[in-house]
Amino acid sequence: MNVPQSFTVGIVGARGYTGTELIRLLAAHPHIELAFVSSRELAGQRVADHNDAYQGELRYESLDADAVAAKGVDAVVLALPNGKAEPFVAALDAAKPDTVIVDLSADYRFDNSWYYGLPELTRNRYDGQKRISNPGCYATAMQLAIAPLLSQLAGPPTCFGVSGWSGAGTTPSDKNNPELLRDNLMPYALTNHVHEREVATQLGVPVEFMPHVAPHFRGITMTVNLWLQQPLKREEIVALYEQRYAGEPLVEVVDEAPWVSRIAGTHGVQIGGFTMAPGNKRVVVVATIDNLLKGAATQALQNLNRALGLDELTAIPH
Ligand SMILES: NC(=O)c1ccc[n+]([C@@H]2O[C@H](COP(=O)([O-])OP(=O)(O)OC[C@H]3O[C@@H](n4cnc5c(N)ncnc54)[C@H](OP(=O)(O)O)[C@@H]3O)[C@@H](O)[C@H]2O)c1
Repeated sequence: MNVPQSFTVGIVGARGYTGTELIRLLAAHPHIELAFVSSRELAGQRVADHNDAYQGELRYESLDADAVAAKGVDAVVLALPNGKAEPFVAALDAAKPDTVIVDLSADYRFDNSWYYGLPELTRNRYDGQKRISNPGCYATAMQLAIAPLLSQLAGPPTCFGVSGWSGAGTTPSDKNNPELLRDNLMPYALTNHVHEREVATQLGVPVEFMPHVAPHFRGITMTVNLWLQQPLKREEIVALYEQRYAGEPLVEVVDEAPWVSRIAGTHGVQIGGFTMAPGNKRVVVVATIDNLLKGAATQALQNLNRALGLDELTAIPH
């Protein structure tokens, strides 16, 4: 493949947890130059003073949608809270429609004119789209945990999710308040969470998802209960997962139930546990994922690499 030496990329919402991880990844990318990073709060400050992975002279800037579009970069990553993407997309559509946009929010995950980028499950649908919606963190874990058994399901999978509090972003709330989370587990949005609807839409089956926030900073444990149409032996189920994810460096099928403490700060997902109920028509599977990496920034970089014509795993340690 003949690719230019370097592409320019900007991050909108670069002060946040996911933007910070993305700066870290792009700082080590051999074919991407970080052209701008936006933050209202940190405007004027040096990125290098906030992110030890970045060593250049770039400073945060406060940029509205038109100013972002005027930068004329090859790709823009939107790392904004939900509901904020539209003006940026509209400005880029008007000024430079061939800009690749990767949106980390839920704003375009239900829009069929955008590519939904969960590469291990959807890359065969990628056909050069420049508008890419990055999946939710819990939603990534659920889909990867369910997909190998999708055709065998006898009913909605039940998904019990526990996230570190970085999943709630930097805007102060109960869900990212370490004081309220100390010695605590905080259930919330127990039906109809946006990721429940996202997974049901993407997989085409209903799912039941019950999220919780825990006192750790990063990483999700997703425990999924799956009812099967026909009895299956444990080794048959493990083989289905191993076959499905063979050749996927970011998905590791493990024997025992994975621990979130072991994947925090890493780029992949671990899926394991595979515990049969008596009768072999019910299995419980556990997936762990770093919500800020494969749940957000790493996945965004997979999508960015692919859209720029680079190897999907460029600059992603694996
Ligand atoms: N955290 C996760 O685990 C995770 C995982 C997957 C997906 N996501 C999604 O990724 C997106 C970013 O999440 P995050 O956790 O990184 O959020 P965050 O930590 O709260 O950061 C939000 C960023 O957006 C900027 N911002 C906020 N309101 C803005 C506005 N009205 N206009 C322009 N900039 C604004 C903030 O910077 P300034 O205020 O300084 O401008 C900040 O840089 C969200 O949509 C989230 O749902 C998050």
